[in-house]
Amino acid sequence: MNLSERLDNPIFRTIQSCASKLNLETYVIGGFVRDLLLNRPSKDIDFVCVGSGIELAKAVSKALNLKKEPVIFKNYGTAMISFKDQEFEFVGARKESYSRESRNPTVENGTLEDDQNRRDFTINALAIGLNNHNYGELIDPFNGVEDLRDHMIRTPLEPGVTFSDDPLRMMRAIRFASQLQFDIDGNTFGGIMDHVDRIEIVSQERITDELNKIILSLLPSYGFKLLFQSGLLKKVFPEMVDLHGVEVIRKKAHKDNFYHTLKVLDNVAEVSNDLWLRWAAILHDIAKPATKRFNDRVGWTFHGHEDKGARMVPHIFRRLKLPLNEHMKFVQKLVRLHLRPIALVKEEVTDSAVRRLLYETGEDVEELMKLCKADITSKDHNRVQKYLNNFARVEEKMIEVEKKDKVRNFQPIVTGELIMETFGVPPSRVVGDIKNEVREAILEGTIKNSEKEAIPFMIGIGERLGLVRIKDIV
Ligand code: CTP
Repeated sequence: MNLSERLDNPIFRTIQSCASKLNLETYVIGGFVRDLLLNRPSKDIDFVCVGSGIELAKAVSKALNLKKEPVIFKNYGTAMISFKDQEFEFVGARKESYSRESRNPTVENGTLEDDQNRRDFTINALAIGLNNHNYGELIDPFNGVEDLRDHMIRTPLEPGVTFSDDPLRMMRAIRFASQLQFDIDGNTFGGIMDHVDRIEIVSQERITDELNKIILSLLPSYGFKLLFQSGLLKKVFPEMVDLHGVEVIRKKAHKDNFYHTLKVLDNVAEVSNDLWLRWAAILHDIAKPATKRFNDRVGWTFHGHEDKGARMVPHIFRRLKLPLNEHMKFVQKLVRLHLRPIALVKEEVTDSAVRRLLYETGEDVEELMKLCKADITSKDHNRVQKYLNNFARVEEKMIEVEKKDKVRNFQPIVTGELIMETFGVPPSRVVGDIKNEVREAILEGTIKNSEKEAIPFMIGIGERLGLVRIKDIV
């Protein structure tokens, strides 16, 4: 197969000419070639040459008149240049093997074939010649094109060899299967099952990167089912495996919370590409195993799983090396509040209940509602419709109350500073108590969040508590 027509980025011709001058056999290889054949967009491009990749990168950078020198990673023998928002990585062909106990590979110079041998999957070992004698020619020693056609992930060598070289590849196999909606060849999948323990030598950051890519794929449940079946999920995310299974007591069963969670995740994935909303779906019921009780009268209960789940979020984020910033807070908030809109479904729900939820969710109310709707996983179509209609009513109420009271971006009129100035008190507990009482009254609807109503109310509380007003505010 000759693909020269499809190499439309002018950099390929620049590289051909530099490689020819330096007399270096050069190929474009890996993800770019795979994505070209799949008609998928691909950002970064990898080149391999038989000789020094660093030398080639320097020559290309010069030919392109780039001001910035290539970034060189001497230990790995690679060099990278950035050009027009893309990154191009150059490396010398390698014969590489990783020793069992160390993450650092021993590297020797090799041929193109050696280099293709040590790659992770047949579909990632495809190369295209960039030399005068083979420009555009596809070099496919492991039938990667056939595997692309058959939608198959397969290692080029015995799976044990490929996975021992870099155990992260077990996660990558499942990530590519999930992203591309491919199968994993039986022998390759068996290799993963045999080597799951070796994932322990891989850094958490690399594992979590792959996990996030699985979560961001079109049908993330597929990737998670593969993780589960292979035994990798137990290794990298045991809390999720704990959701699996159904217990039956006196003919009463609860649902399998693992498959329920995956359905919620797929439902969220249909309406949002946001990684953190997807994490909220994964974690919304995470404390169900820990809060599960059986009660003779009502059957299975999971009281407080939303609060306990929210408390588990920071621990899980820390262990998975996910960021401990506002994303974590967002996930935690959604886990904590995911049952609240259901409580607002009742006909006679008061404005104050709606106001409280709006106040607690703030900016994230739409995202919370997406999660709640995704949480409806009943197979009974009529029931689903009924629940959705209920949520539509809750949303109407929210819009109504928000229009009236504007609590979503609630900025209290009565601040701590105002209380301290009014009564001449230092920062202390009483200041917090007054502030909370004013806020409660506003959320209850007893008073409005306006100067006219909130300030006299605050003064009344202070006086009741024996404070003396030293400054007139109104
Ligand atoms: N590779 C490998 N083993 C790894 C990582 C990468 O063999 N553990 C090889 C594969 O040939 C891969 C190439 O290096 O195609 C580039 O790796 P990377 O940029 O991580 O992946 P891509 O295949 O480009 O895919 P994506 O950009 O979607 O991650």
